[in-house]
Amino acid sequence: MDAGIVYPVVDGVPVLVPDPRGLLMQTSVRGLSSAQMARVDAPDAVTPHLPFGLLGAPGSFGQWLSAVGDDGPDAACAGFAADYAPDGPAVDVGCGLAPMARRMVGLGREAWAFDLSLDSVLIAKGVLSGALPVVQIPTHRNGLRAVKVPFRPVTDVNYAVADAATPPFPRASFAWVHLGDVLDSTGDRHREVLYGAADLVQPGGILTVSSSFGMLDQPAEGRPPPEDALLDEIGEMGFEIVGRSDRVPHVRRVYDRRFEVRMFFCVGALRP
Ligand SMILES: C[S@@+](CC[C@H](N)C(=O)[O-])C[C@H]1O[C@@H](n2cnc3c(N)ncnc32)[C@H](O)[C@@H]1O
Repeated sequence: MDAGIVYPVVDGVPVLVPDPRGLLMQTSVRGLSSAQMARVDAPDAVTPHLPFGLLGAPGSFGQWLSAVGDDGPDAACAGFAADYAPDGPAVDVGCGLAPMARRMVGLGREAWAFDLSLDSVLIAKGVLSGALPVVQIPTHRNGLRAVKVPFRPVTDVNYAVADAATPPFPRASFAWVHLGDVLDSTGDRHREVLYGAADLVQPGGILTVSSSFGMLDQPAEGRPPPEDALLDEIGEMGFEIVGRSDRVPHVRRVYDRRFEVRMFFCVGALRP
């Protein structure tokens, strides 16, 4: 944080980036009714919060989703934290619509959630706090359905707009730091983001990371699998791996008839 910069606050959310005016000029908050209409990396505002069995997929695919239930990347990472994280505050880094921040509160923690996207943070805050009790879900091209948010409001989350590579918190502030599906969105900044997030973990605390490794690198012959490279990077930072799950299904509903399944790698690592 720089004492010479005035950090604006939008709808109660502080914008804590080095160039807040620049970020606000790039952002067009076009309304909070639909994630689809805003610059948000999610198909709608409630899907990231739902167990896969509730996504309404038809037929045998729907039966498979019901069997998967809630066993996605967020559940895997929350499991590592439940097993290993000491008591204390938690932060959902690159929170998007903040599904992990909601779990963090459910697990009894004071939670923080931040993202570089102002739209994401405003929608997350609206949906989680109950200020946006109804959201629009795309059903097909040009089709929208109004859906009541299917969970109780959660008020104990502190929100900010911030860059994971330069987070606006003192080092070692959190017992649990989560990077959920963020590394794939950061392009060649993934190392800065990983190190920025890891820096927030207190001694004895846990870093949890989920990634599909969809876009990290161009393919190259002989390169080790990205899971190994990530584990090496985490090891180089001095963390001890305490949990890993290699093929965790992650499901996104895009339209009523379109569902995307990706396999995620999930890891939990303790700072000594
Ligand atoms: C695929 S979404 C995942 C959102 C959420 N973590 C989840 O698991 O549903 C990736 C998010 O990372 C955010 N992001 C990318 N780079 C970031 C950065 N440097 N700092 C903070 N957030 C970032 C994007 O804005 C986006 O909301």
